[in-house]
Amino acid sequence: MHAITIPEPGGPEALVWAEVPDPEPGPGEVLIDVRATAVNRADLLQRQGNYAPPPGAPAYPGLECSGEVAAVGAGVTGWEVGQPVCALLAGGGYAERVAVPAGQVLPVPAGVDPVDAAALPEVACTVWSNVAQLAHLSRGETLLVHGGGSGIGTFAIQLGKALGATVAVTARSGKHDALRELGADHTIDYREQDFVEEIRSATGGRGADVILDIMGAAYLPRNVAALATGGRIVVIGMQGGRKGELDLGALMAKQGTVASRALRSRPVEQKAEIVRGVREHVWPLIESGKIRPIVDRRIPLAEAAEAHRLVESSDHLGKVLLVRG
Ligand SMILES: NC(=O)c1ccc[n+]([C@@H]2O[C@H](COP(=O)([O-])OP(=O)(O)OC[C@H]3O[C@@H](n4cnc5c(N)ncnc54)[C@H](OP(=O)(O)O)[C@@H]3O)[C@@H](O)[C@H]2O)c1
Repeated sequence: MHAITIPEPGGPEALVWAEVPDPEPGPGEVLIDVRATAVNRADLLQRQGNYAPPPGAPAYPGLECSGEVAAVGAGVTGWEVGQPVCALLAGGGYAERVAVPAGQVLPVPAGVDPVDAAALPEVACTVWSNVAQLAHLSRGETLLVHGGGSGIGTFAIQLGKALGATVAVTARSGKHDALRELGADHTIDYREQDFVEEIRSATGGRGADVILDIMGAAYLPRNVAALATGGRIVVIGMQGGRKGELDLGALMAKQGTVASRALRSRPVEQKAEIVRGVREHVWPLIESGKIRPIVDRRIPLAEAAEAHRLVESSDHLGKVLLVRG
């Protein structure tokens, strides 16, 4: 088969379409004939040599895919050859075929284009596990999503609204109209406005009950300042650095929580549990039309370098798909 390989880390040109050995499904695995995959921010780090795949994961980038079941390994039940599926991967989506633990496979939700389904597994699993399961976002609460225009952000807006929350986002101003259409109640231009002041004024001084953060160190003190009493900050990205200063006094005064999770390196059993939760609670929201995949554009898989340039510029909204053929 062919895959996007990274012979030497570097810029987008480091991505090379090459012939590689076909994967075989091991016991408990499903082999997927990939129709589409999606670019995640983590893929850019992997390409630069800053985010190695976890042990046992395929060497090629790609944290999710959609396609059809090509074969099933020993002991797999519930999946049949030819069935349209999508899957959460630890890597290897930028390829014609990928083998994945059966617990990370999901059916294509009814009503969703099978190609667009490649935009769902990573964001659905990340946002569900962090915002709903970990931070327990509840009806009537306020969710602040940093990077509302990202793949993660566009999904978080929709899930937050579906869970009955008020949703505020930070994003560059050119994306605000689209994010309001997706359901965002408050849009904050992080380049021009102070999100702490804005979230306070939007909540009558209370602050955000849950903050989904992708900026890490750069936003840590301001996230604590923006938090409501009893609020929960979940850090899932470090785009603004990994070492920050945390004022524990300020956090305690708010009875606050700071948590963080990385999906890719979690054990297979934990991923399977998250995928089960997503199938039970999130898939129905997609099938009823409350949440939809937000696809900026489709780019041929062999031209992955172009897709990486686009995502690096952040000129996209939602997800950029890489499609075969
Ligand atoms: N921990 C996990 O398990 C996990 C899983 C998946 C993703 N993630 C993380 O989630 C983040 C989003 O991933 P993605 O693939 O969806 O990314 P993406 O589509 O490439 O989006 C990145 C976003 O960062 C935003 N941004 C840049 N500077 C900002 C700032 N100062 N304030 C607010 N937003 C800012 C950009 O917004 P503008 O375009 O508006 O400038 C852009 O929308 C990444 O950091 C990724 O590593 C973590």
